[in-house]
Amino acid sequence: APAPAPTEKLLAFNAVSKSLADAVVVPAGYTASVLYALGDPLSSATPAFKNDGSDGSFEQRAGDHHDGMDWFGLSATGTPSTTAADRGLLAMNHEATTNEKLNSHFLHANGGTSTLPRPAAEVDKEVAVHGVSVVEVRKNAAGAWEYLAGSAFNNRFTALTEMEIAGPARGDALLVTKYSTTGTVTRGTLNNCGTGKTPWGTLLTGEENWAGYFTRATGDNAARGNDRSVTANNRYGNAEGVATRHGWESGGSEDRFARWNNAKTGSSTNGSDDYRNEMNGMGYMVEIDPYDKSKKAKKRSGLGRFAHESAAFSKPVAGQPLAAYMGDDSRNEYMYKFVSTALWDAADANAANRMAAGDKYLDAGKLYVAKFAADGTGQWLELSITTPAIAGYAKYAFANQADVLVNARLAADAVGATKMDRPEWCAVHPVTGEVYYTLTNNSNRRAEPSGSSQSAPDSANPRTYTDTKGASTQQLGNVHGHIVRLKDATPGATSFTWDVYLFGAEAGSAADVNLSGLTADRDFSSPDGVAFSAATGIFWIQTDDGAYTDVTNCMMLAALPGQVGDGGKKTITHARATGAALSVDTFIGKQPTADTLKRFLVGPVGSEITGLAETPDGKTLFVNIQHPGENTALANLADPAKYTSQWPSNAGYGAGKRPRSATIVITKNDGGRVGS
Ligand code: FEO
Ligand code: CA
Ligand code: CA
Ligand code: CA
Repeated sequence: APAPAPTEKLLAFNAVSKSLADAVVVPAGYTASVLYALGDPLSSATPAFKNDGSDGSFEQRAGDHHDGMDWFGLSATGTPSTTAADRGLLAMNHEATTNEKLNSHFLHANGGTSTLPRPAAEVDKEVAVHGVSVVEVRKNAAGAWEYLAGSAFNNRFTALTEMEIAGPARGDALLVTKYSTTGTVTRGTLNNCGTGKTPWGTLLTGEENWAGYFTRATGDNAARGNDRSVTANNRYGNAEGVATRHGWESGGSEDRFARWNNAKTGSSTNGSDDYRNEMNGMGYMVEIDPYDKSKKAKKRSGLGRFAHESAAFSKPVAGQPLAAYMGDDSRNEYMYKFVSTALWDAADANAANRMAAGDKYLDAGKLYVAKFAADGTGQWLELSITTPAIAGYAKYAFANQADVLVNARLAADAVGATKMDRPEWCAVHPVTGEVYYTLTNNSNRRAEPSGSSQSAPDSANPRTYTDTKGASTQQLGNVHGHIVRLKDATPGATSFTWDVYLFGAEAGSAADVNLSGLTADRDFSSPDGVAFSAATGIFWIQTDDGAYTDVTNCMMLAALPGQVGDGGKKTITHARATGAALSVDTFIGKQPTADTLKRFLVGPVGSEITGLAETPDGKTLFVNIQHPGENTALANLADPAKYTSQWPSNAGYGAGKRPRSATIVITKNDGGRVGS
């Protein structure tokens, strides 16, 4: 039976204040507890986490930098359940590690080696803390939530786990490597950021900043004959001579280290004798079946290759295609939509073979990119090898549709899509079906752009910011970010309407900066993770802030948004030092009130708030606290008093004082729904 309609007032809690405390702060009447942290054992044979840099076996422990996360319910007998609210699996991303230089200092006893070459053992440990974990959680007899170290469902995917290439790029020449001469498999998933839950009950995990893990030596452009692969590598951030984030390629001559070096060293014409194509195996939406450990993960190439965040599905309607909305989080990148060829069959919500349902809906379809117009409309432009602007693109000669998908950024350039202020997560409103995209910030949005990396404000990215607080006037771009929303009439629609739902800002800043009129109980900067509660309809907004951390740690807000067009048209005028002022027309959502936007949570020092999962009754919320203490210097590793954060040990969780990313569980003390 459907859940009874809500009768309680939502957002009735008292807003929490901005906070610099090294603690998770939630409203009066709520409790937040630590559930599952970096290093926690995922098998009964794995020793307890000592948290002093001596721990190993991360293939059997929680990874680092907990990020996007979804809930997969379990019945009392351990079968998949869409209604269970006291037992389930959390499938979550472990995006990265906290590092000062090359090393990930909290993971190593002495802080690790911060120069090249990196020792093999350190690299192996760092590779293993990346990826995805699946962990069983349940409410125990005393009513408290706990994770089960010994659950047979617990699972880990690391940056070395073998995965299938699925969809149009499977077997394509671009995926041929020494490891897979047929171009059908690759190893590992990296920098997993946002997630999405499919309508058939699997996890999609987005690979984001993977490019920083690969390198090509100076001279590789010439070794490749300056062919089009040089254009492709450069477009994705792997120009020759750029160092990697962790130096994993320096761990030794073995294949598991050599793969991170993409220089052409072999003599084959197809890349089957080296790792020149290895980076083409990263950058996908990866599908995982959290309920079935026997199933290999699949990289769904049909959804394009870029710095993926979340995937948000349109409401499934029988007989219609499914749409999956996605963002590419880099400055001046794009927003995408995948539309399935297969029409939705409601029976697939309970598919016995969930990965086969993934094959059905995700391997055939059309990929589109968004282009915004100044009149409040926009277009979804198809990325197809038959699109004239792509087939005839002068800067890169696409070979086939697989090439268009693997190099989706180049295809989107070719069709002239709108460059956005770093598209982070997106989410679909459960009632209106409108799609909300966070645009977290963009230091390269300038009223007077200089160089090719900067771009002028436009209707969908209408704000730049000039800092007049300090001694000099500084142009800083769109430092606080905004949330754009769009309405597709149907999942397959090729045009949409849009507005800017909300602008981040500091309360009290000028009206042309604080465009949504935020007050102290709801001001924020740099929206990032977003999710709608299916139970309450609350829109949860999480921040990953670089511009407001002098005043507050990152936070989560609860919102009850309206719909596209509920505000009105607004002209924003940008003064320019040379020439005439630049006027940009945009559309701004209705300004929020205490009934429609309120700060719910503030995290510990140095953390980002990210990932949100809930039980179907809306009474339990799981949220991730990512990289507390991230600015702790390597030189201070021996002195916990100098850590910028000691969370969660200062909240009574676990051994050692080194800060740890962790999942928290939030409940309302009176047993009500979270956010009421
Ligand atoms: Fe991993 Fe774009 O946040
Ligand atoms: Ca993030
Ligand atoms: Ca971010
Ligand atoms: Ca982060």
